[in-house]
Amino acid sequence: MFFKIPDKSTLCSDIYNYIETNSDEWVWYKEFNIKVIPQTILLNDSFFKFLKTKCDFIGAVLRIDPNICYSFHTDDDRRTTINMLLSDSPSHCIFSPTRINDRLLNIVELIYEPETYYLLDTTVPHMVINFNSHRFMFSIQFLQDISYNDVLEIVSLYNFINREKK
Ligand SMILES: [Fe+2]
Repeated sequence: MFFKIPDKSTLCSDIYNYIETNSDEWVWYKEFNIKVIPQTILLNDSFFKFLKTKCDFIGAVLRIDPNICYSFHTDDDRRTTINMLLSDSPSHCIFSPTRINDRLLNIVELIYEPETYYLLDTTVPHMVINFNSHRFMFSIQFLQDISYNDVLEIVSLYNFINREKK
């Protein structure tokens, strides 16, 4: 359903600086205001550098307005993503792997740690509740149809290579 990538991100401040200082307008795309992050920034991070040798992707920051609930859904344009929460204002991301009946769902919260990437299976129903500030989420869009398990294999390989180096 989701997997925490062990290595911390080295990009948080660069991404934040970019969205704060870059003069491009936020663009409305599929229920979010977004800003695409240049590949040159992403490729400064060793994890994305490795991922790029295996598949193509773009990275963007998705902004959700204050006091919004993005109700349960599965992503219709992707099966998986890699996310990192940039803002620390109150919000919750909840997955529901199984349903008990029409009204009751089993739920699991994804509690984002700072500066940490998570691989998400977006074919599992999930939702976001955002409270009184903008919520900024860095998110990867793969340019090919790739599954959670496919990316998990790449991540496992990355972790293995990294362990060997240490
Ligand atoms: Fe989603």
